[in-house]
Amino acid sequence: MNVCKAFGSKVVLSGLTLDVKRGETLVLMGPSGTGKSVTLRHVIGLLRQDSGDVWVEGHDMSLIKPLELFELRKRMGYLFQEGALINWMSVADNVALPLMENSSLSRSEMEDRVREKLKLVHLDGVWDEMPGEISGGMKKRVGLARALITEPELILYDEPNAGLDPEISQSINELIREVADTLKITSMVITHMVSCVRTVADRVVLLEGGKVIVDAPPQEFLNHEHPRLRRFLGKDPD
Ligand SMILES: Nc1ncnc2c1ncn2[C@@H]1O[C@H](COP(=O)(O)OP(=O)(O)OP(=O)(O)O)[C@@H](O)[C@H]1O
Ligand SMILES: [Mg+2]
Repeated sequence: MNVCKAFGSKVVLSGLTLDVKRGETLVLMGPSGTGKSVTLRHVIGLLRQDSGDVWVEGHDMSLIKPLELFELRKRMGYLFQEGALINWMSVADNVALPLMENSSLSRSEMEDRVREKLKLVHLDGVWDEMPGEISGGMKKRVGLARALITEPELILYDEPNAGLDPEISQSINELIREVADTLKITSMVITHMVSCVRTVADRVVLLEGGKVIVDAPPQEFLNHEHPRLRRFLGKDPD
């Protein structure tokens, strides 16, 4: 609530107030450089605000102890904007990575879990391939399987469909919706795409100048009269 964050003299968040309800899928939109990724990094505890409060699952993030943060992170999944697969590790090892770092599962339990998550993102049969051998859309899905591997209660997606063709991008949107519906998890999704808003959102916010300027359900959002939003969307919604 009322979160402010600056890097040096550059103010990024200036009184951002945003709440996400349990089980809800919230979409964040806004111009490039407006602080969308920075907002998600506050939720995951990679950045700390200068002022204001950030609460995640009952934890005050400015008071959280390292061990509590470690435990909390196990309950969160994060799909990085840059994809962030490790190129010299196979698909299966990339997906298993969060488990290797912090879980007590046996090798075969881990493999079962990896197989289950790859199936969930419709990549059954992909296992030993290296990231360099699969397409961009498949990489995003591997990233999604990795974000889901710890069975998180909260999942953060930073532009899950950037740079993909419209068909694959729509299949990623549908996957995000499917995951939200079947696993009943809370999701935050950054996107620039109206198709993503239509498919995944329960609620949409437009960030600008470090604040929320529009906050509405998807249909209302797309038809909203706010001049900044009309300009941002660039056209009338069809
Ligand atoms: N660690 C950092 N140190 C310094 N400046 C940063 C840091 N992280 C982000 N910024 C700055 O904060 C601003 C917001 O960045 P952010 O990555 O949140 O933008 P964004 O809304 O996600 O944009 P895009 O749509 O391009 O991904 C940018 O000007 C960026 O340069
Ligand atoms: Mg970003």
